[in-house]
Amino acid sequence: MKILIPGSFDPPTNGHIDVIKRCSKIFTEILVGVVVNPSKESLFSREERSSMLEEIFKDYKNIKVMSFEGLLVDFASKNSVDAIVKGLRAMTDFDYEFQMAQANSTLAGFETIFIPSSPEFGYLSSSMVKEIHSFGGDVSSLVPSEVLKRLNNE
Ligand code: PNS
Repeated sequence: MKILIPGSFDPPTNGHIDVIKRCSKIFTEILVGVVVNPSKESLFSREERSSMLEEIFKDYKNIKVMSFEGLLVDFASKNSVDAIVKGLRAMTDFDYEFQMAQANSTLAGFETIFIPSSPEFGYLSSSMVKEIHSFGGDVSSLVPSEVLKRLNNE
């Protein structure tokens, strides 16, 4: 089964990496879709976000990274995925994710499978990483080394 894990990944966190790695043990093919949203300013460019993820998953034969613009369901159709997978951190994620899952099902018949985040990453988000880092806080336990290097411009 080929699945799509979409997201902004601005930047990828240990929570994202955990969900993607767990999925790589369950599903045969994983496509990580990095969304490009022209109306949303991002810290990292499309190329930077994609190349960080490619570096992180370079040893995983069944994980591929691509970026996309436009509708998720169009990208999913073009790449012949069987389902969309989203990580859920808490009930606060649920309303929004449930609506998107229903919209994607109505638009193109795509099913969404939810995977709970591991408890240690339940609070973690890209926005939190950016905020802590912008005030000089230590985010080394929250992101992979490939991301830390970029955050620190190394
Ligand atoms: O990591 P994020 O920012 O929560 O990911 C959100 C994402 C990429 C899943 C969502 O913004 C998305 O699907 N964007 C593509 C545009 C689209 O299809 N919108 C309608 C969704 S119902």
